[in-house]
Amino acid sequence: MKISIIGAGNVGSLTAMRIASDGLGDVLLVDVVKGLACGKALDLEDARPILKHNYNINGSDDIRQIKDSDIIIVTAGLARKPGMSREELITRNAQILKDVCLNIKELSAAAIVIIVTNPLDIMTFYALKVTGFKPQRLFGMGISLDTARFANLIAQELGLLSTDIEALVIGAHGEAMMPLSAFTKVKGVALDEFMDEEKIKSLVLRTVGRGAEIVANLGTGSAFFAPSAAIAAIVRAIVKDEKRIIGLCSYLNGEYGIKDTCIGVPCRLGKEGIEKVIELEISQEENDRLSKSAILVAQAAAQLLA
Ligand code: NAI
Ligand code: 2OP
Repeated sequence: MKISIIGAGNVGSLTAMRIASDGLGDVLLVDVVKGLACGKALDLEDARPILKHNYNINGSDDIRQIKDSDIIIVTAGLARKPGMSREELITRNAQILKDVCLNIKELSAAAIVIIVTNPLDIMTFYALKVTGFKPQRLFGMGISLDTARFANLIAQELGLLSTDIEALVIGAHGEAMMPLSAFTKVKGVALDEFMDEEKIKSLVLRTVGRGAEIVANLGTGSAFFAPSAAIAAIVRAIVKDEKRIIGLCSYLNGEYGIKDTCIGVPCRLGKEGIEKVIELEISQEENDRLSKSAILVAQAAAQLLA
């Protein structure tokens, strides 16, 4: 299994480490900065005897090395700075993504592609249009990270194990994300049995602002530990054909009454990519919010494609 990661920055290099140490496949790191991917690959390779694995980790500044990859993860692009929204990255990251996607199309047309670059939903839809790939095989990572953040904050509030919280977030990976408290359970018990509406609202708000909270603290760059863990979980579901339900930024073709755009929804994920988009019984108001976000994604991508 050849897993290529384009962008050897914070998210890309940590993802490489997780994939190799989790035994998911051989890793190729690629970055435009000369020597960066190679240096990080050498360092990661030296850890193999300690981490007890024998997967190959290579690095290159030549994107042509991605030829015949099975899975490609795109983390190339700028990360936001304090006070910046994910959307402010759009023009520069779209240029980078276009170049990267044209190379993927030429060199690895059979790969499953996971987009990570922000603004995530717009970049995912844009990448689909640029490559013309089947939507089952090209999707984005965003709301699985947001779901983990929501679960973590609930667990902290209740003083419980985070693994006992089954949270759910759908929608955009951005300010309009929709943590769904009605679908969130603590060991199968409804969340509102554990806390009142005010507390739930404050945790929802904290989840929406979690990425910005991290950026403000870091001062430079954005989150990478939890994002790389979320990417590795997606790669694992594909490599092991787990058929897990994971929130992904997926193309919709009528699901939720939404057509020809991408937005975050739960999906069943296996070795062929997205096997099914799961349609939740959300309220009309929630469906309207989801549709609004999805339309904004299509409009922004249309401007990039014009
Ligand atoms: P970073 O700045 O540490 O790394 C980005 C890397 O991309 C840099 O090393 C840069 O040289 C490289 N790059 C730029 N153009 C390239 C090209 N054409 N080909 C190959 N490499 C190229 O940033 P970080 O923290 O790794 O984040 C990467 C992206 O992922 C950002 O857009 C960030 O906003 C996004 N992100 C998305 C998350 C999500 O949940 N979807 C979570 C965390 C980050
Ligand atoms: C985050 O949510 C930057 O999108 C990234 O942390």
